[in-house]
Amino acid sequence: MRIRSNTYEKVCHLIASNIRDKVKHQSHVVLGLATGSTPIGIYEKLSKMKNTNFGDTITFNLDEYVGIDKHHDQSYQYFMNKHLFSNLNFRKHYFPTEENWNEYDLMIKNSGGIDIQILGIGTNGHIAFNEPGSNRYSSTRIVDLTENTIKDNSRFFDNIEDVPTKAYTMGLSSIMGAEKIYLVAVGKHKKEILEEAVHGNITEDIPASFLQEHPNCEVYYSE
Ligand code: F6R
Repeated sequence: MRIRSNTYEKVCHLIASNIRDKVKHQSHVVLGLATGSTPIGIYEKLSKMKNTNFGDTITFNLDEYVGIDKHHDQSYQYFMNKHLFSNLNFRKHYFPTEENWNEYDLMIKNSGGIDIQILGIGTNGHIAFNEPGSNRYSSTRIVDLTENTIKDNSRFFDNIEDVPTKAYTMGLSSIMGAEKIYLVAVGKHKKEILEEAVHGNITEDIPASFLQEHPNCEVYYSE
């Protein structure tokens, strides 16, 4: 695994184009999607690809807060509708929820598995909400968010007290099962953790480091 540095614009263009090509050449594509600041540019590019038919594509989002209504403007369902789902028609989109989190890995498996997974990285090395200490073979579950993550995510809320403290997260097992992974880190504050994840020891302390064991993971960094 190596880190490819490029402008955010170029990284988003490349990933969105690769997704489009996959959807054009393969029927029934399954995408794994992230929320947060990192993938917004990718979703902007995809949203403009009106000539591509995404009608046979299904998506599984990585995570969702516990105890936040899906219509709340900080829910990940709201985020995805705003940035992608209101612009493109996918066949189906799924989030881990109270009703389905227990079956989420099976739903992914039964759909054929994730073809392309987009990932951001937390400043503590989390991927999805697999916080430090997460098992390499963890399944989709409810987790306690770390103080670090709550603090990082408080930028989207009026008060830090409003940030949910629990989330449903896809486990590392389903993420590692994806055929292709794009890990993207944007901003100088992510550089150090990205380097540790890519070049350091493979350890539960930095869940993103497990990606070193993935056969087809591309890592992008933009300042
Ligand atoms: C979001 C997710 C998280 C974020 C990470 C980086 O669905 O799974 O792991 O990718 O916290 O967040 P941003 O992109 O906001 O810096």
